[in-house]
Amino acid sequence: MNGVSGRMGYRQHLLRSILAIRDEGGIELSDGSRITVRPLLVGRSEAKLAEIAQRHGIADYTTDLDAALADPQWEIYADFLVTKARATALRKAIAAGKTIYTEKPTAESVDEALELARLASEAGVKTGVVHDKLYLPGLQKLRRLIESGFFGRILSVRGEFGYWVFEGDWQPAQRPSWNYRTEDGGGIIVDMFPHWNYILENLFGPVRSVYAQASTHIPDRWDENGTPYRATAEDAAYGIFELDGDIVAQINSSWTVRVNRDELVEFHVDGTHGSAVVGLFGAKLQGRNLTPKPVWNLDLADEHDYAADWAEVPTNDVFRNGFRQQWHEFLESYVLGTDYPFDLLAGARGVQLAEAGLESAREGRKVELAELGL
Ligand SMILES: NC(=O)c1ccc[n+]([C@@H]2O[C@H](COP(=O)([O-])OP(=O)(O)OC[C@H]3O[C@@H](n4cnc5c(N)ncnc54)[C@H](O)[C@@H]3O)[C@@H](O)[C@H]2O)c1
Repeated sequence: MNGVSGRMGYRQHLLRSILAIRDEGGIELSDGSRITVRPLLVGRSEAKLAEIAQRHGIADYTTDLDAALADPQWEIYADFLVTKARATALRKAIAAGKTIYTEKPTAESVDEALELARLASEAGVKTGVVHDKLYLPGLQKLRRLIESGFFGRILSVRGEFGYWVFEGDWQPAQRPSWNYRTEDGGGIIVDMFPHWNYILENLFGPVRSVYAQASTHIPDRWDENGTPYRATAEDAAYGIFELDGDIVAQINSSWTVRVNRDELVEFHVDGTHGSAVVGLFGAKLQGRNLTPKPVWNLDLADEHDYAADWAEVPTNDVFRNGFRQQWHEFLESYVLGTDYPFDLLAGARGVQLAEAGLESAREGRKVELAELGL
């Protein structure tokens, strides 16, 4: 596990996923057998690794990635590094014949992301890329609504993602400063468009084109040490995505908005027979028979309570942490040797959408997406 001192590496992948699985005695397969996990922590700072290892009763840690990759007892290489450091490490792990599980984005350019997917395929290496948002309770409820036919024909999706990230002077920022520097792999497009890609393609249909407007609304920020720096990456992106089936998705991504919604991300889906608004956890819907008939009249205050026309979708399932659930599925697929859909090629499609979004923003035009293949 490379990068376990980071936000995602530590909290989501180590604590919530691998240690949770370890502490429950592994994962039970349908034939009654168990997959157990034993993490090896990899990083640059021996002191940090030793501290994490000690805190969680982990026996193995090292600052020598090459030696770890050369050691056959470690079967899976998992990568949670800053985006900029990822491709080099993945390349090494693929060359060492390890199974790969990695955070997104898988690389900084689509060429590099595709090359990694190709190398893995040629080496016969199984790969998995984090698709965590698909496992959110709200999005799983949405999937069920779609599969039940609730929407009729889906027309459009409007996504609103974001919150205020403090500038770092009068209150410390709650995201790492590299997120705001293009030269360090930052920017909200590179960060969020890979998520939008797998959400859109898995729930609605493949993305065929993108138009994005990128803005750096806040040009000056303060880093982890309180030192001022210039934000060179966009902190907001306003995107329009055309999907198969004539579905239009419009998603705002912003670290410069104050939240006035139920959750930090919400998707509003309109279909001919019904609509839904889903967040991380919640989901509410309105069927065609509950749809009010507003009349546009500026002379009369509208007394209708539009919020009351929506019904909450019940939580009929127990939802695990999404990162952990995906780890379960990946480990099971690895042990049983089954196909795994969220591989490096899927990851490359996410990078492709981010790259196309940046190109669109730079050139002020809609960018079509070519179908990616190995
Ligand atoms: N799936 C998600 O929802 C989600 C959310 C946030 C971030 N991410 C992705 O996870 C990755 C890590 O993000 P984070 O927010 O945890 O970042 P972070 O800065 O908290 O952690 C990054 C890790 O990389 C290590 N690192 C930094 N520079 C390095 C270098 N040059 N060489 C080797 N190691 C280096 C750090 O020591 C740390 O362990 C990013 O690729 C990011 O895009 C995914």
